[in-house]
Amino acid sequence: MRLALLAIPAVRSALELELGRAIEYHASLPSTQDRARELAGSGAPPLVVVAEEQTDGRGTHGRSWLAPARAGLLASWLFRPAPAEPALFALLAGVAVARALDALGVTGARLKWPNDVEVGQKKVAGALAHATTDGEGGSLVLGIGVNVHQRRDDFPPDLRESATSLALAGHTVDRLPLLVRLTSELDRVADRSQRRAALDEWRRRATVLGQQVEVLREGRTAARGIARDIAEDGALIVGDERVLAGDVRLL
Ligand code: BTN
Repeated sequence: MRLALLAIPAVRSALELELGRAIEYHASLPSTQDRARELAGSGAPPLVVVAEEQTDGRGTHGRSWLAPARAGLLASWLFRPAPAEPALFALLAGVAVARALDALGVTGARLKWPNDVEVGQKKVAGALAHATTDGEGGSLVLGIGVNVHQRRDDFPPDLRESATSLALAGHTVDRLPLLVRLTSELDRVADRSQRRAALDEWRRRATVLGQQVEVLREGRTAARGIARDIAEDGALIVGDERVLAGDVRLL
């Protein structure tokens, strides 16, 4: 599991050198996302906030992100300047997660628009992004949760059919190497010169492209039809419509 090694100052500073940013490690805190946004607001330089446990973890659309202590990788990266609009960068984060998993032996992760990573057709990771503007390129806080060690009973009953962990999918992965690889893959998708390749990789890994889908937003149908492509800004093209946010389901 090994994330706790970051509590040792010498280990943390060696890793900070490798990652090129400060690491703020917590055994427990309400939300790494809230903490990184607070640091962004006070002008902090690029860093990553990591926690073994969150007591008020945030998901997309105001949902909660739940994970037992030490079971998941829970981290939020502060990028300065913002590498992209939040919706696009959260989508690109899926590519970074999939590439990091490939490197650690979990091959073939698929991406469900907008920000979900799936292994074995179940969600194993999700991302959310928040931007701030400050007149100097602003900043972006990207939070990622990866289900690593959870057992089936660790998920609430209503999520057991749709959520999984790397362990449940048959993979033993340590969270520390995952944090390291994921950080370098995030830097790669943050690089604008790599953008086209990252979007193409998103398309290759996509679960919805070419499928008949419905996009729901706040409980209402926002679009219905064939998911044809994603736009350069991460919008899903459904029929003739562009959809920037929502939950997609295959029909
Ligand atoms: C989703 O709903 O799919 C996005 C989940 C994002 C969860 C991560 S866990 C680390 C960071 N801190 C939070 O409170 N949320 C994000």
